[in-house]
Amino acid sequence: MDSLIHGFHKMSIEERRNIIREFSNLSTEDMEAMDYRMDTSTAGNMIENVYTIMDYPVGIATNFRINDREYLIPMSLEEPSVIAACSNGARYARPNGFMAYSTGSYMRGEIELYDVPDPDYAAIKILQNKEKILKMANTRSKTLSNLNAGAKSIDIHYVNNELILNIIIDVADAMGANIINTMLEYVSGYIEELTGGKANLRIMSNLTTERVTYAYAKFDGKMLGAETVDRIIKANEFAKNDIYRATTHNKGIMNGIDAVLLATMNDFRAQEANSHAYASMGGYGPLTEYRKDADGNLIGSIKIPIAVGTVGGATKTSKKAMLAMKIMGIQNSNEFSNILACVGLAQNFAALRALAAEGIQKGHMKLHARNIAIAAGATGDMIEKIAAEMVSEKNISYTAATEMVKRFRDE
Ligand code: MEV
Repeated sequence: MDSLIHGFHKMSIEERRNIIREFSNLSTEDMEAMDYRMDTSTAGNMIENVYTIMDYPVGIATNFRINDREYLIPMSLEEPSVIAACSNGARYARPNGFMAYSTGSYMRGEIELYDVPDPDYAAIKILQNKEKILKMANTRSKTLSNLNAGAKSIDIHYVNNELILNIIIDVADAMGANIINTMLEYVSGYIEELTGGKANLRIMSNLTTERVTYAYAKFDGKMLGAETVDRIIKANEFAKNDIYRATTHNKGIMNGIDAVLLATMNDFRAQEANSHAYASMGGYGPLTEYRKDADGNLIGSIKIPIAVGTVGGATKTSKKAMLAMKIMGIQNSNEFSNILACVGLAQNFAALRALAAEGIQKGHMKLHARNIAIAAGATGDMIEKIAAEMVSEKNISYTAATEMVKRFRDE
């Protein structure tokens, strides 16, 4: 089924659900999960001191075709116009859609060794015993060993007077945090023995330079118009040369990526740290790149480290997060990373397109008007009516909304 669905945004929730059901071949149980609410006792087992559960809306980004497969993509966030923009961005890349490739699942764990009597001697001792260290680490995961994954190599560097041992671990389809930290803690005693030093931190690195995703799209030059194509390229140059702009540029990318991570209950903080650290290697800059091809189309690409898993993690504790994964039909962590990178590229392209053409406030405020109406106390039909009135009067504000709510109530 095609993910280009005309008028999806105008449909009722029921109509949208039916399309999602058909598209992703969902069962009755899957459909029930759409209305499932996690109980506070389950929530209380996930985190500490629970007193309630947060409500985040979840929507669907349409129009995505990635590596010749159609996707509907669940996104969860509080900001209006992000999902509309993302879907719109993906539309400009059709009919070919996006191409993406993830390099695999190599991650780094770090052991910080201090008070090492002779760091150069210690480094050689570690290297001479490399195979033993890796073997020891690999006893911590039968699953990874059976997959021929797990701890693969080591890397040593020095920071001030400390010796930093990195263990490079193929975490396969996991995000990897737990298994990496377990392996590090397990081998650190032996490393202390070998080096005569003391192990301080033993923790994964959230900068995943060995787990990177590439995505590419050709955005239709005719749909965009030659001037907008040129202005988007200029905007990207601006981000390359101005850190204030680069930060906002990358924030736009993360709008999309974080929203998919939230919908699937993944650690978006890890991905935020990863993305921004990577963007700063060699001087903070934009994670995307744009150029024009000979036919006037805009070629957009992104190279971004992404560390997400399809096994382990919190996803399985939430029926809705599991459902989000099923809606996308994700088979493995590489495919998940591909989707995230394409969403980031589409989101960034959509923001740049709007900024370079009509500006974002018009569309954004129109959608935001509904939020303002709700905040002012509007309910039911009133929300749409007040939002529409504020838009037509070009006065979208909390004060205007409050007055309108009062008037509606009086009527
Ligand atoms: C708003 O959440 C994101 C944008 O500011 C991104 C950008 O400026 O590229 C629109």
